[in-house]
Amino acid sequence: MKAQENKTGLPLVQLGVTRPEELTALFADLRGRFDDDCACACDESTWKVFRDRWLGRKSGVLTQITDNWLKPATPELKRAVGASLNELRSHVESQIEARRAAIESGAEEAAVARERVDLSLPGVIHPIGSHHLICQVFQEIEDIFFSIGFSVVEGPEIETPYYNFEALNIPEFHPVRDDMDTFYIDLPKGAATPLLLRTHTSPMQIRAMEKRKPPVRVIVPGKVYRRDNPDATHSFMFHQVEGLAVDTDITFCDFTGTIEYFVKQFFGAGVKTRFRPSYFPFTEPSVEFDVSCIFCGGSGTAAGGGACSKCKGAGWIELFGAGMVDPAVYGFVDYDPKKVSGFAFGMGIDRLAMLRYGIDDIQVFFQNDVRFLRQFP
Ligand code: FA5
Repeated sequence: MKAQENKTGLPLVQLGVTRPEELTALFADLRGRFDDDCACACDESTWKVFRDRWLGRKSGVLTQITDNWLKPATPELKRAVGASLNELRSHVESQIEARRAAIESGAEEAAVARERVDLSLPGVIHPIGSHHLICQVFQEIEDIFFSIGFSVVEGPEIETPYYNFEALNIPEFHPVRDDMDTFYIDLPKGAATPLLLRTHTSPMQIRAMEKRKPPVRVIVPGKVYRRDNPDATHSFMFHQVEGLAVDTDITFCDFTGTIEYFVKQFFGAGVKTRFRPSYFPFTEPSVEFDVSCIFCGGSGTAAGGGACSKCKGAGWIELFGAGMVDPAVYGFVDYDPKKVSGFAFGMGIDRLAMLRYGIDDIQVFFQNDVRFLRQFP
């Protein structure tokens, strides 16, 4: 309020107010000034000045009224001044508080408006990748075996020699261990057992049979490791799918029928299959399973003449090892070899994928070159 308007600085007598009725106009005028002042307090800092001007303890308008009008008022006026002052005080206090709340919520609204996300703006496009070809092949193999009653189990990549070798009928110093040299984990001295990266998914045959009684029908997809030098068909880390079926009456025919069914589903009905005798310490008899070369149609001759480079003119490509579970293995899992029989197989998934998609270097699976990956969306 400007100085000349500040009537509250003077006692009532000097303002010429002697009768209670004259107070009405005086307080109405003050209230009007307060309302105008209130409308101008539109942010936090102007509101604080405004509040102190009216409610300040030392020289606020209400304090001035108390000091200059109420205290020195004649007994005749005192009661009326007190009543009008109380009325004005409650108006002033409630309005000042209402103004504070309005400014605060206005500030919040402004902040919200500032930070609001504009949904009409074009977004940042994060391209969605696709499953790696190896994952796609895993999925396809799982689907085929699901359809004939197998279920999927997974197991540890870090194994003990017992599961990786001994329980699979591969005792220490067995020559087969030379083909499956692997990586051993550094353990503190005195550790109970050495730990290694599994060289095949076959340890899961043992773990699956330990866990359940026959019938067992599982496949085991996963990573395996060997100390092999990398080349076009070898990697030190690669993928396998193990299969195991054990029951009271599983025959060699069930075995060949299952494998042939899988291969025809995976490569197409046109491929021919054959079994060759082989050797694995945990299967007896053991076989290698071949398919007719899918590149030359089994003829052994390339399209432009000469020997097919993929099967080296043989017309056949080796797919994986398999066989009837060796009775010695049942001894490790407490199955009665006289009552149960079964078959097992272990496929190299990377090589299966290479054959299926005509990829001639296994290393491309692990280089993560998007130009390669994008070909298999
Ligand atoms: C085994 O690993 C046996 N566990 C398979 C088995 C299971 C036989 C159950 C009988 C019963 P093998 O060492 O042959 O067998 O390996 C199986 C497949 O893994 C091979 O046919 C090949 O496709 C793949 N493979 C082997 N070594 C490598 C490597 N270094 N890089 C990529 N693939 C490999």
